[in-house]
Amino acid sequence: MAVLGLPGPPFFFCIFFLFITVPTITKSAMNDAEALLKIKQSLHDSQFLDSWKNGTQPCDEVIRWVGVVCGKGIVTTLRLRSMNLSGDIDMSALSQLQGLRVLNLVNNSFSGPIPEFNKLGALKAIYVSMNNFSGEIPSGFFTKMVSLKKIWFDKNNFTGPIPSSLAQLPRLLELHLNSNNFTGLIPSIGQQSLESLNLSSNNLYGDIPSSLSRFDVSCFEGNPGLCGQKFGKLCASVVPTPPPPSEPPQKSLKIAYALMGLSGFILASMLVGIYLLVQKRKREERDQMCTEKRNFDGNIGLCISSIGRKEEDGSGSGTGKCMGGRRSPRKTKGFGDLMMLNNTGKPVFGLSDLMKAGAEVLGNGSLGSSYKAKLSNGLILVVKRLKEMNKMDSDDFKTEMTRLGGLKHPNILAPLACHYQKDEKLLIYEYIPKGSLLYLLHGDRGESHANLNWPTRLKIIQGIVLGMSYIHTELATLALPHGNLKSSNVLIGPDNEPLVVDYGLISIIERNHAASVLMGYQAPEAVESRSISPKCDVYSLGVIVLEILTGKFPSQYHKNNKGGTDVVRWVKSAIEEKREVELLDPGISEHRSCIGEMQKLLHIGADCTESNPEKRVDIREAIRRIDEIRIDGST
Ligand SMILES: *[C@@H]1O[C@H](CO)[C@@H](O)[C@H](O)[C@H]1NC(C)=O
Ligand SMILES: *[C@@H]1O[C@H](CO)[C@@H](O)[C@H](O)[C@H]1NC(C)=O
Ligand SMILES: *[C@@H]1O[C@H](CO)[C@@H](O)[C@H](O)[C@H]1NC(C)=O
Ligand SMILES: *[C@@H]1O[C@H](CO)[C@@H](O)[C@H](O)[C@H]1NC(C)=O
Ligand SMILES: *[C@@H]1O[C@H](CO)[C@@H](O)[C@H](O)[C@H]1NC(C)=O
Ligand SMILES: *[C@@H]1O[C@H](CO)[C@@H](O)[C@H](O)[C@H]1NC(C)=O
Ligand SMILES: *[C@@H]1O[C@H](CO)[C@@H](O)[C@H](O)[C@H]1NC(C)=O
Repeated sequence: MAVLGLPGPPFFFCIFFLFITVPTITKSAMNDAEALLKIKQSLHDSQFLDSWKNGTQPCDEVIRWVGVVCGKGIVTTLRLRSMNLSGDIDMSALSQLQGLRVLNLVNNSFSGPIPEFNKLGALKAIYVSMNNFSGEIPSGFFTKMVSLKKIWFDKNNFTGPIPSSLAQLPRLLELHLNSNNFTGLIPSIGQQSLESLNLSSNNLYGDIPSSLSRFDVSCFEGNPGLCGQKFGKLCASVVPTPPPPSEPPQKSLKIAYALMGLSGFILASMLVGIYLLVQKRKREERDQMCTEKRNFDGNIGLCISSIGRKEEDGSGSGTGKCMGGRRSPRKTKGFGDLMMLNNTGKPVFGLSDLMKAGAEVLGNGSLGSSYKAKLSNGLILVVKRLKEMNKMDSDDFKTEMTRLGGLKHPNILAPLACHYQKDEKLLIYEYIPKGSLLYLLHGDRGESHANLNWPTRLKIIQGIVLGMSYIHTELATLALPHGNLKSSNVLIGPDNEPLVVDYGLISIIERNHAASVLMGYQAPEAVESRSISPKCDVYSLGVIVLEILTGKFPSQYHKNNKGGTDVVRWVKSAIEEKREVELLDPGISEHRSCIGEMQKLLHIGADCTESNPEKRVDIREAIRRIDEIRIDGST
C-alpha cells in the first residue's frame, strides 16, 4: 500500500525541478544558430539557405538568415515556402528552437510520414500545404499542441482518419485538410474558436457533425461519401426523414449574391432566417479559405478594446465572446472614448455603454464587420468596425470623420460617432430596421419585394439622386465623393425614403485596398487604368438604376464580375434591339401606363454606364434628367 500510494514530497520536488531546469539546460546545449545549421544539414537541395552560415547569427540585424523571423533576438518563425526543400527534417534540432511559434514549409517536396511536429508544443501555426507528406496521422498527434491556432495540411497525400485530437485544441482558428486522402467519419471538431475550415476533396463519409453545421457546404465538397441535410442526401444509418425541400437554385443563388454584396452595413432584420454570410479574407499565408456561417440571432458581447479606459471598465464587455476581434494592445495612442459626430438630439452614449450592450453580428462586408448593439436605454446602434485603413493618425481621422458626420440631408445617413485607436477604428450609425435596398430587391421574394412597386422604386431612385447630388456638392474635393454606391449601401427608411451610407471613405481606406473593395473602382476606366473621378460615381449610379428597374443582381458588384447579371451589357444590347420593355422587372411593368417613363429611366441608366467616361453623362445631367421622370408620365 505504501509503495503504491501517493508519491511523497520528494517526488513532487523532482517534477518541479525538471520543469524548471530542463529548458534552461537544453537551451544552453544548442543555440538557435546551431539548431538551424543542423536542420539545414538534414535537408536536400538547400541552396536557398546559403545565408545560413556557421559563424554568422540568424537574427543578425544586418544580414538576417533567409526565411527566419526573430523576436527579441531569438527565432520565432521559420518561413521556408517554395524552396524546393526535401529530406527528413531534423526534428530534434527543430525542437531546440525555443522561441519557434510559426512553421511554414508550404510548397516544398517533403514526403513520407508526417514528422514529429508535435514535439513543438508551443507552435501556434503550422503550414505544410503543397508537399507530398503521406500516411496516417496518429489520432493523438495534436494532444499536446494546445497553442495551435492554424493548421494548413492541405494538398498533401495524407490518408486514414482525421485525427480526433484536433477536437481538443482550444484555440483552433483555421483548419485546412483539403485535397488529401483522409477517410472515415469527420470527428466532432467545431470548437467555437474555429473560423475557417476546408475539408474538401478527401474521402470522408457519413454525416457532418452538428458542431460544423455552421460552415458552408463548399467546405466539404469533393467527398462523395458525405451525406445529410447539407447535401440533400440521406445518411443510410439514419432513420429516414424526408429531405428538406431544396430551394430553387435561382433563389438560393440570389440570396448568396445578396449576401456577398453586402458591404458591411447589414441590418439584423434582413438577416433573420438567413444564417449564411460569406466573407473572404486575404491573409498572407492563405491561398484559399472556406466560409463560415454564423447564427445571427446569437448574442455576442461586442469586443472593443478599452483603450484610454480604466482597467475595471474593461470587464464591462460582459458575457459574450469576441467576434473576429483581436484585443489590441492597450498602450496605443487614440482618443479613447467615442467622439460624437453630429448633434441630432439623440441621447449621448459612450464607449462603456457600447461595451455593455448586447451585440449581434450583422455581417462581414468588404470594409469590415458590423454589429447591432442595443444599449440599456433602448437605443439601437450599428457599430461598424473598419479594416484596411490607411495610416492616418488620430487627428486626421477625427477631422475626416467630423466632415463626414457633419453632412445633413434627408437622403443620407451620416455616422453618429466614431472611435479611433491604432488597431481599431469604429463608426457608429443609427440602426435602420427595414434594411438595405439590396435586401429588399434580392434578399427574399416575399412581401418586401412585392411592396417595391413603380412609385416606390422611382421614389427610391430620385431620393438616391438627391443624396448623391448633396454628397457631390459637399465632398467635391474628393476624387470619388461617394465611392461606394451600391444597393447594399442604400438603406430604406420607414416611408421607403432611401438613405445613402458609406460615402467619402476613400480618404481613409488603404490605397491598394480601395480598388478591391469600393464599387467606384468598378467603372471601366478605373478597372483599366485606375483612373478615378466623380464620373465613377455616375457609373455606380447607373448600375443601381438598372438594378432597380430590372430587379436583377448586377455582376458589377463583384470583382471579376463573377455571378449576377451584367446589367450594363444586357440593357445596352436590348436598347439597340429596341426591346427594353422585356427587361423591366415584372413587379413594375404591370403599370402599363408608365412604361414610357420606365424606358426613359432605363436610357438614363444606360447613359450613366457608358463605358467611355468622356461620353458618360455627368452627375448634374443625370440628376436633372432623373428628376424629370414622373410617376404617371404626366408632363
Ligand atoms: C561551426 O564552426 C565551429 C568552428 O568554427 C565548429 O566547431 C562547429 O562544429 C561548426 N558547426 C557546424 C554546425 O558546422
Ligand atoms: C511552388 O514552388 C515553385 C518553386 O519550387 C514555384 O515555381 C511555384 O510558383 C510555387 N507555387 C506556389 C503555388 O507557390
Ligand atoms: C529541386 O531539388 C531536387 C533535389 O532534391 C533537384 O534535383 C532539382 O534540380 C531541384 N529543382 C530546382 C528547380 O532547383
Ligand atoms: C500521392 O501518392 C501517390 C502514390 O503513393 C502518388 O502517385 C501521387 O503522385 C501522390 N500525390 C501527390 C500530390 O504527390
Ligand atoms: C509522393 O510520395 C510517394 C511515396 O511516398 C511517391 O510514390 C510519389 O512519387 C511522390 N509524388 C511526388 C509528386 O513527389
Ligand atoms: C485514397 O485511398 C483509397 C483507399 O484508402 C484508395 O483506394 C484511393 O485510390 C486513394 N485515392 C487517391 C487519390 O490516392
Ligand atoms: C477548399 O478546397 C478545395 C480543394 O482544394 C478548393 O477547390 C476550394 O476552393 C476550397 N474552398 C474554399 C472555399 O476555399
